[in-house]
Amino acid sequence: MNYDIKDIHLADKGKIRIEWAEHDMPVLRQVRERFAREKPLNGKKMSACLHVTAETANLIRTLKAGGADVVLCASNPLSTQDDVAAALVRDFAVPVYAINGEDHETYYKHVYAAIDHSPVVTMDDGADLVSEIHNSYPDVARQIIASMEETTTGVIRLRAMANDGALKFPVIAVNDAMTKNLFDNRYGTGQSTVDGIIRATDILLAGKNVVVAGYGWCGRGFAMRCRGMGANIIITEVDPIRALEAAMDGYRVMPMLEAAKIGDLFCTLTGNIHVIRPEHMLLMKEGAIVANSGHFNVEIDLDGLKETAIAPPRQVRHLVDEYTLPNGRRINILAEGRLINLAAAEGHPASVMDMSFATQALTTEWAIQQQGHLDVKVHDVPDTIEDWVSRLKLVSMSINIDELTEEQKSYLSSWEMGT
Ligand code: ADE
Repeated sequence: MNYDIKDIHLADKGKIRIEWAEHDMPVLRQVRERFAREKPLNGKKMSACLHVTAETANLIRTLKAGGADVVLCASNPLSTQDDVAAALVRDFAVPVYAINGEDHETYYKHVYAAIDHSPVVTMDDGADLVSEIHNSYPDVARQIIASMEETTTGVIRLRAMANDGALKFPVIAVNDAMTKNLFDNRYGTGQSTVDGIIRATDILLAGKNVVVAGYGWCGRGFAMRCRGMGANIIITEVDPIRALEAAMDGYRVMPMLEAAKIGDLFCTLTGNIHVIRPEHMLLMKEGAIVANSGHFNVEIDLDGLKETAIAPPRQVRHLVDEYTLPNGRRINILAEGRLINLAAAEGHPASVMDMSFATQALTTEWAIQQQGHLDVKVHDVPDTIEDWVSRLKLVSMSINIDELTEEQKSYLSSWEMGT
């Protein structure tokens, strides 16, 4: 079996970590048990480009239990948990191509190794796999039944491809399922971004001015958690509805050029490019901290900062680079602008990835059942999957809910009854 990981001897530690995560993934465990009996993915070659974490390991185990022949590569150079990669190789016989800290060239070498597996189903977190298949592997593109996309940034890329008429096979926006984004993006990103920033810097959030760029589900989650820890939140937005929502949620809303002057900590969660630029950084206070929790490291204009700074950066802590600006002020960039929740912490907790990855696994099964009947476009996850995942998650949390009475059902489906 081919693979490229840091060190196979880390496998013991990785295996315990995978088992720890599994405890908090009861919905995915049920999917795995059924998959092991029914083998719905039997013999299907799959390539997954995901963050190589303990939670992902449990997803890959599920796909394998369903009979898939899966290869895994990293979806980000800094998020790989090397011990988990080792355990996947040694204990679960999964070819893994991922090394924490890998350079750009190695990252793409690993993506190409996953494509060389010749998959008929792919799973992406950021759309790198789909985009490389479209760019350079027309034969693979022709054989793809469907591809699942895990993250907002990836869905944005895929919709752009579809609008351009460039998309060559059906993709499913798993990110857009409510069982994914309402929970993973909000509570997962909210908590893990705070965790990453604190692990990297050890700062106290209470009393700080925290500038949150983007008020989608990720920004909302992060803002909510920072507020809970006593920070003063400022939201920057480009979408008027979201800006209004932020204002009515009780936050201050203003353009980045104003927020730049008062923030102590900045975090981008937009999915867009150059949200924080040198013109903003030049206005920041001495010692300001700047992080990104969006998928790609493009949200902070690092090249612009490097050109503006008077000297190369000084590493002041692990994953903290201090830049000195011409005005004499210093600002600190976390994890070279890479997603802080996975670079400095461990990503979203297993309990929330349980829902995202149960949705992923079931959507994979559904896509294979639909083989040949899916249009080449961006599809939504079927409601039945969302219903099943949310109901089972409730059961796992020992929460019961009411059921509609017959009278209520008929009321909801009728239109004659008025005042
Ligand atoms: N994305 C965010 N958190 C994650 C995790 N723990 N595992 C895989 N992908 C993630």
